[in-house]
Amino acid sequence: MAEQFDVIVIGAGPGGYEGAIRAAQLGFKVACIDDASRPDGKPAPGGTCTNVGCIPSKALLQSSENFEQIGHAFAEHGIGVERATMDVGRMLARKAKIVAQSNDGILYLFKKNKITFFHGVGSFVGKTGDAWRVAVAGKNPAELQATHVIVATGSKPRPLPNVAIDNVRVLDNEGALAIPAAPKRLGVVGAGVIGLEMGSVWRRLGAEVTILEALPSLLPAVDTTIAREAQKLFARQGLAIHTGVTIGAIDVGADAVTMNYTDAAGQAIAVSVDQLVVAIGRVPFTAGLGGDTVGLARDERGFITVDGACRTNLPNVWAVGDVVRGPMLAHKASEEGVAVAERIAGQAPHVDFNTIPWVIYTSPEIAWVGRTEQQLKADGVDFRAGQFPFTANGRARAMGDTRGLVKVLADRATDAILGVHVIGPLASELISEGVVAMEFGAASEDIARITHAHPTLSEAVREAALAVDGRTLNL
Ligand code: FAD
Ligand code: NAI
Repeated sequence: MAEQFDVIVIGAGPGGYEGAIRAAQLGFKVACIDDASRPDGKPAPGGTCTNVGCIPSKALLQSSENFEQIGHAFAEHGIGVERATMDVGRMLARKAKIVAQSNDGILYLFKKNKITFFHGVGSFVGKTGDAWRVAVAGKNPAELQATHVIVATGSKPRPLPNVAIDNVRVLDNEGALAIPAAPKRLGVVGAGVIGLEMGSVWRRLGAEVTILEALPSLLPAVDTTIAREAQKLFARQGLAIHTGVTIGAIDVGADAVTMNYTDAAGQAIAVSVDQLVVAIGRVPFTAGLGGDTVGLARDERGFITVDGACRTNLPNVWAVGDVVRGPMLAHKASEEGVAVAERIAGQAPHVDFNTIPWVIYTSPEIAWVGRTEQQLKADGVDFRAGQFPFTANGRARAMGDTRGLVKVLADRATDAILGVHVIGPLASELISEGVVAMEFGAASEDIARITHAHPTLSEAVREAALAVDGRTLNL
């Protein structure tokens, strides 16, 4: 006899687990199914983000940045350290502990919200009347029924043709987060978000990092002023980034991987590295879901087809997060999960793609919301731009990190903020002000007139807003 629910959520990543919690808050009887396991076989809810994405990458970025600071920044504060050492095993154990705490935290939230969690693979079986039937395959098989199903099965790494990931020599994100000792030479294919974040971690720990990127320029989605600044700073750190390359054969040997490629000038080059990270994007994951059994439509790239409200082609079947169109970001996934739960309850939520912030957790961090200068030009929008460098910000000077700048873009006629772009210390936190401002339809003058505490990094945001009207105070 199938267990009856109002809502079944398949996948407990940020999209699935937060959607499940919201549905439970709204009074529904909710089941959530996830197949991820910890090394000891216990469930590992939290998805890519918690297990092999956002959280572990930020743990390693923090550890490696601390190490880098000791070597390169402490001396000017008067702190002398004879010889700092790095115990990579301990760093990875710390990361694993943080991941496990997060898994446990989600299991606690399920219990608190009376969500029934099933550890296994969830797949559509069919329909009985208005109810969808979903089977759970795992240690404890089950059959469930519910009127509504939310699919939140996420994504997986896009492979490079003819290159098998073994997570020993050739690594995806999972392997890149678990290298047992800093390699001497690390290769990375793809100078996207993962390539830059993971390349940064292992460079700080001593690896010579070579990043190969197919596109002619670095970070094309980032505002050109910020991307230029980033390229300069990354080169200074010693990240060797080659753009405009064509990847040829990747030869995997017992001790090394040789990357054959043609550079932007057409010259054939071979570089041998100890390990290679492949980070060329991610693709939607629907294997095992049984979507075809019930006729769940997917587009030509494999994404589950949804409308603006995350409705699929099937009645009362919804899909959210990385498995559908839009940015592959944890906060986008969770916003969609929450919004779907509210729609099921008859509410009218809205996820505004124009105000979804992006952050790249390099050092310095890069963060933005809204449109870039090049997008505004392409869209024919008449705008004004204001910029402010962290060199002129007192808090940044006191912290000892004056790299980068803030840039605010505003409509010339209405002064409405169209984009906020930051490269610099704690850009990930500073960007929230831009998100709130844009969400409330603020003008650059609004930010310019708001009192910002002194001395704070956020004063650089205010100064950039003042610069839109040509009236910075501290430059
Ligand atoms: P996922 O998190 O992928 O979760 C899907 C879950 O469903 C998984 O647990 C999977 O095992 C399970 N599942 C799949 N099929 C089934 C099935 N049939 N039955 C049962 N369970 C199933 N985003 C950010 O916003 N900030 C960051 O800093 C960031 N860092 C990242 C770093 C890395 C290295 C990577 C790879 C990604 C990062 N991301 C980051 C992206 C972020 O992880 C994803 O956007 C987010 O996890 C998507 O959430 P989701 O709920 O759609 O899917
Ligand atoms: P990405 O899309 O950010 O970058 C992939 C890069 O690889 C691109 O620059 C692309 O031009 C390049 N590329 C593609 N094919 C290539 C080829 N054959 N040869 C050389 N270069 C090639 O994808 P990435 O880094 O794999 O990350 C996947 C997604 O995960 C991100 O887009 C993002 O949505 C999410 N993510 C988010 C993070 C964050 O928010 N801080 C951190 C890490 C991942």
